[in-house]
Amino acid sequence: MNNIEYKQAVEQLNIYAHHYYVLDDPITTDEIYDKLYHEVLAYEELNPSNILSNSPTQRVGDAVSDGFTKASHLSRMWSLEDIFDSDGLRAWLKKTYKLDSNISFYCEPKFDGASLNLIYENGKLIQGITRGDGEVGELITQNVKTIKSIPLAINYKQLIEIRGEVVIFKDEFEKINKSRLKNSEAVFANPRNAAAGSLRQLDSSITASRNLVFLPYGVGKNTLEHKLLSDKMEYIYELGFRKPPNSSICQGYDDIEKIYETMKNERDSYSMLLDGMVIKVNEISSQIDMGHTVKVPRFSVAYKFPAVEKITTVKEIVLQVGRTGAVTPVAIVEPTDIDGVVVERATLHNFDEIDRKDIRLGDRVIILRSGDVIPKIIKVLTHERSGSEVEYKRPTLCPVCNSELLQENILVKCQNLMCEARVINSIIYFASKPCLNIDGLGNKIVEALFNSGLVKSVIDLFDLTLEKLLKLEGFKEKKSQNLLDSLESAKGCDYWRFINSLGIEHVGEVASKTLSENFGFGFIDMSKEQIVECDGIGEEMAESVLEFVRVNRETIVELQNILQPKEPIKKDEAQDNPFKGKTIVLTGSMSESRGVIKEMLENLGAKVSSSVSKKTDFLIYGEDAGSKYDKAISLGIGCITEQEMRELI
Ligand code: IVH
Repeated sequence: MNNIEYKQAVEQLNIYAHHYYVLDDPITTDEIYDKLYHEVLAYEELNPSNILSNSPTQRVGDAVSDGFTKASHLSRMWSLEDIFDSDGLRAWLKKTYKLDSNISFYCEPKFDGASLNLIYENGKLIQGITRGDGEVGELITQNVKTIKSIPLAINYKQLIEIRGEVVIFKDEFEKINKSRLKNSEAVFANPRNAAAGSLRQLDSSITASRNLVFLPYGVGKNTLEHKLLSDKMEYIYELGFRKPPNSSICQGYDDIEKIYETMKNERDSYSMLLDGMVIKVNEISSQIDMGHTVKVPRFSVAYKFPAVEKITTVKEIVLQVGRTGAVTPVAIVEPTDIDGVVVERATLHNFDEIDRKDIRLGDRVIILRSGDVIPKIIKVLTHERSGSEVEYKRPTLCPVCNSELLQENILVKCQNLMCEARVINSIIYFASKPCLNIDGLGNKIVEALFNSGLVKSVIDLFDLTLEKLLKLEGFKEKKSQNLLDSLESAKGCDYWRFINSLGIEHVGEVASKTLSENFGFGFIDMSKEQIVECDGIGEEMAESVLEFVRVNRETIVELQNILQPKEPIKKDEAQDNPFKGKTIVLTGSMSESRGVIKEMLENLGAKVSSSVSKKTDFLIYGEDAGSKYDKAISLGIGCITEQEMRELI
């Protein structure tokens, strides 16, 4: 980089930063920003006399925007130096050991959210302040008080600042976006933006509705006397803060690399988004001796994970027709490697979303792929348009059967029940895991069976014979027999699976279980009033059930005769037992798969839920129980082992 390039880079970084921090509207990815930032930093190290005063390296933190009252932190909120690979780690360890060789390290996930400082005085939460520029942030105490994992009072009377990250769990994020889509509101790009945006609402009731979670990672001003950071943090958790998952104490390069690799490989299985691992010197006295540079502490570093956001180009928009007839647009993008996976398609949710984001063919866009989240376009880089981009026109005809499409609220739907795509997708759904779980009936096979004419509905599946299958291309004896065997083993399934497999609109696994538990085989004869009385079933769902039964009663009966599902034990008929009517969470590894144990408990009339909350009655834990166990303990929920559960049954 020469001096002219340096000046341009500084200007570019400032534009990026303004969009990110002030306008809340990022125009590039963290990866590109970080890369340029490090190039600028490298130039400045070689040419200290040329450093521009407006270089982002000369700034301590984010800009503070208007809107909220400003408040000062009692002690500065630092940011962290980033490293990206083993070389970076070696270099950081080398300079750190030079300062003090007699140290150990505390590693924990780096949570991707918004940082927050909490000030407690006389045991009371008196202020909640955003990070801002590290010295001064925005006073958002009212909003902070709506976050349930933040204690309003603690059993510690001295003045103390507790710092942490406010995050939104991935499932909660999907829920928020789903409901925003339904209400024709713009979706949040990622959980981090959703967390930061929710925290800075002028109306605290909005903050309250977002289920934010506070994960403490350190303290600011304090008079605690622990010698080790790990002990200090344990003390903070005991004060009533949520313990973040997976912190560990370790010794040096090999340990750190191992923990980093595991965390990186398992990042998708965390409830919240992680963007790296933070390494901190564990000895407080060494931390104090090491001190800070102008910008970052010398005793800590962020070891970043590979980026999950990349910039690519939209080549085409194709259409998918689902089993309900809903037509969804999918963007085909220039293949891009994101964290080891080549992404070629990105979901666009619906047509309104294309309009709202003004996505055009040929546009440069930011896509996000994060584990279980389907890749999606989170931003169009309109400033990169050349003028040759082409606007997208909504379809009026079904791309599969050519019948006219109908706009139903925000959905565009094919109305033709016989539309090939609808039929094929219903069969695929029928065979899928949360339905009848029929092995060997994936997309390709269903398409082949449909195209051969042998299977035009799910009922036809059960008329297949070895003879018929062997006539099809690619169906040898073994494959055909396996398919017939799995179809056979679907018989005698749980009744809720049967209901779920029907594909009634708005009725998923949970509602199917509710219908099954409450009405058993009688569900097809229930009135709307009876159905809406069930916990968790609303008007829309009830109407959908009635309409489905009205149109398909004969098929349901015929299918039930073929499948002979097990008559469920109805809720009110389950024999008295300690788990009946209770809400239970399972965690850790057990002697059988958790799915099997879940089913056993459900048959006893229990509700098995996936996350611990105040509503949880019991936590049943197996080996290596982790954060759910910690949370249950902190909420005072009864915890029993798998063995104890079995004894109680
Ligand atoms: S420690 C003195 N630990 O990352 C060090 N920060 O890039 C202060 N963050 O501003 C930070 N998880 O908002 C620390 N386990 C963790 C973290 C964490 C997320 C955020 C925090 C900080 C930023 C620095």
